Order: sequence, then structure tokens, then C-alpha cells
Amino acid sequence: MSSGLKIAVLGAGNMGAALIGGILKTGVAQRERIWATVRSEERAAEVASRFSIRATAGCNPEAAREADLIVLAVKPATLPKVLKEIRDVLRDEQILLSLAAAVPIALIEKIAARRMPVFRAMPNIPVVVEEGATAVAANGCCSPEQRNLVLEIFRAVGVAVFVEEDLMHVVTALSGSGPAYVYMVIEALIAGGLKMGLSREISTRLAEQTVLGAAKQVRESMLHPAVLRDQVITPGGVTISAIHELEKHGLRSMLISAIETATHASVERTRALLAQFDGDGQD
Ligand SMILES: NC(=O)c1ccc[n+]([C@@H]2O[C@H](COP(=O)([O-])OP(=O)(O)OC[C@H]3O[C@@H](n4cnc5c(N)ncnc54)[C@H](OP(=O)(O)O)[C@@H]3O)[C@@H](O)[C@H]2O)c1
Repeated sequence: MSSGLKIAVLGAGNMGAALIGGILKTGVAQRERIWATVRSEERAAEVASRFSIRATAGCNPEAAREADLIVLAVKPATLPKVLKEIRDVLRDEQILLSLAAAVPIALIEKIAARRMPVFRAMPNIPVVVEEGATAVAANGCCSPEQRNLVLEIFRAVGVAVFVEEDLMHVVTALSGSGPAYVYMVIEALIAGGLKMGLSREISTRLAEQTVLGAAKQVRESMLHPAVLRDQVITPGGVTISAIHELEKHGLRSMLISAIETATHASVERTRALLAQFDGDGQD
């Protein structure tokens, strides 16, 4: 992919900054061709010094006008305002890449008031340690080369896949919010170790590595987790007594229900956003 690509990252907060790190790592754009914008002067100075790129407080239209790829990394509630600011400088051949949770591509197209390539991505917070899980949806204007470019950027900060846009709600529930569930599991494992006499430090190291190692084994063995679980169980042993306890409390059922509930919550959030921004793009 050409390193002559110019990229604007509008809203270089947690996600925007992680993506800038990924962009620099892949080399899809050189640092002098990346322009990040934020709200405050303090954050602009921080981003400029961390990545040695141009970063400004405001200047969204100026940054967007120069870019081939415009990353929209502001909060969902700010997105319509930023899109309205830049829509007069947008060109059909530019690419919009939105990270905003719950904001449909159709709303972005409506406010941008043109048919242009639009990607909608749902990354998750482990992108900051280059272990993110990102799902991307695209509108009909995106070429295979543009799809590859977007995948390349997200793969620099973890795993990335394409999905149909209507699956973004379940993606949000599974991997978008998922780190929060796993933090709870790690927290509880640590507490269990503490309760039974391990030091805080040792309990923490063992719990975090157990989750990391189990996830890595699922990926590398390509075996179903139930098969791997079975391999750890000795008849009449310790593990099966713990698994019996987890089954009594419905661990698996609880997580399935959590994802179902969160999927419905995401649908509701999109509905509320659409109601709030009904009429956007008309003025
Ligand atoms: N965090 C997650 O786990 C996660 C997961 C999936 C998707 N997302 C999506 O990623 C997007 C960003 O989330 P985040 O967690 O990175 O939020 P964040 O850390 O609050 O970043 C938002 C950034 O936008 C900047 N900003 C605010 N108004 C602006 C404006 N008018 N023009 C330019 N920049 C402006 C802020 O600047 P200041 O710093 O100066 O205030 C801040 O740096 C959201 O749409 C969210 O839905 C986040």
C-alpha cells in the first residue's frame, strides 16, 4: 500500500491514538502525512509529541481536506457535528472510516450528503496493547483495495474481520464490551486466590497469565474450547469439582444471556441516536 497516503484522524483520544500507532507500524502512511485533531490544546501537544505528527485543537475541515483517508474517532454524540464541519470539503474519492459505536453507515452518508466509501469499525480497547479485536462493515462504494487498506491498519493492532453491518450489534456485545467481562473474570480469579491464601501479586500474575494462555491455546490449537476443557479434567480430580460448581451457577448461560442483552441494548442505542439526530443532513 502506498506510503504516500494522507490520513486525518479526527478525535485522537484512546482509540484514535491507538490507530495512529497502528498506522505508523504498518507504514501505510508516513508520520508527516498524518494530521490528528482533538478538542483541547493540551491533548494536541501530547499527541504531537508522542507520535511526532501534526496534531491540532480543531482544524477538522483543514485536516479532512488534505486527507485520502479520514478517520472519525470522536465520540458518537460528537460525530454529526464533526461531519457537518467537514462535509463541504469532502470528495468522492476520499475514504471515511468511522469508529463511532452505534452510528450506522446510513447516518454518516446522510450527513456527509454524498455517496463515497464509508467504513464503520468496532474495535475494542486492547488495541492499545496491539491485541484488539475489530469488526468492520463497508458500504457499496468501498473497493477491494480500500477494504485491504482498512484491514491492514486494524491488523497492526490486533485481529480484524469484515462483517455485514447488521451484525455490528452482536459484535459490540461480544468483542466491543467483551474486555469488561474478561476483566471481571480475572478480578474474580484473583479474589479466589486471595481468599485461599495467595499473595495479591502472585494471584494477579497467575490469573492474568491463565486467561492469556488459555486464549492463545484456543487460537493456536484450533480446537473447540470444550475439547480443551475436557483435556484438563482428570476423573475424580480437582478441576471437575470446580467445573461442577461453575455449572451450578450457570457460568456459560450467564455469558450467553449477557451477550444477548447487550446486543439488544446496542440496537436500542442506535434507535435512540437515530431519533436524536433525525433530520441531520437536511440543513
Ligand atoms: N473506547 C472503546 O473501548 C471503544 C470501542 C469501540 C469503539 N469506540 C469508539 O471510538 C470513538 C472514540 O472513543 P474513545 O474511547 O477513543 O474516546 P476519547 O478517548 O474520549 O476520544 C475522543 C477524542 O475526541 C476529541 N474531540 C472531541 N471533540 C472534538 C472535535 N470537535 N474535533 C476533534 N476532536 C474532538 C477529544 O479531544 P480532547 O482529548 O481534547 O477532549 C478526544 O481526544 C467513539 O466513537 C467510540 O464509540 C471506542
